Amino acid sequence: MKTFKRILFWFLIGFALIQFIPTDKVNKPVDHQVNFIDIKRTPQKISQLIKGACYDCHSDETVYPDYAYVAPVSWSVKSHVNEGREHLNFSVWGKYNEDLKKSMLEKAVQTIQNKTMPMPGYVVYHKEANLSEAERVLLVQYFETILKSKTY
Ligand code: HEC
Repeated sequence: MKTFKRILFWFLIGFALIQFIPTDKVNKPVDHQVNFIDIKRTPQKISQLIKGACYDCHSDETVYPDYAYVAPVSWSVKSHVNEGREHLNFSVWGKYNEDLKKSMLEKAVQTIQNKTMPMPGYVVYHKEANLSEAERVLLVQYFETILKSKTY
């Protein structure tokens, strides 16, 4: 019992201490000249879907949930956001070259169809990201229309 209490004590101390390691949750300001939804004039229904299901990890408009403020969960959330933005950041879409835009649209279609995006773990805590089949079809059709138009 004594050992258990000691372990618990140090665990709690450790847990309290890691709360002081900060994660940067300040979003960069969004430039509407290069933001995907603005330059594509995305219809409202579709932009709501993209914002609700993708923008938390793939834009500079991340809305952090309450649990993202408690370490070590906060580190995992921040690393997903960083990694997501590195791959695809809709907020800087206008700065991408044509090849990258094309490849991202193709990958967006793939990942929505095979349900790897939005990330399954994220969907559990974000109802609006839990896309129905119909919503997935809408998004896929929208990205495919842009691909066909060749004006990415
Ligand atoms: C919880 C965070 C999160 C959400 C929400 C999310 N993604 Fe991602 N996404 C990631 C991460 C992390 C990666 C990079 C690692 C990987 O490919 O799994 C990624 C990668 C991607 C890639 C690039 C794949 C590649 O091979 O380069 C595309 C395209 C993508 N996501 C599209 C989307 C779309 C479209 C949505 C919304 C329907 C979405 N994601 C929602 C976190 C997220």
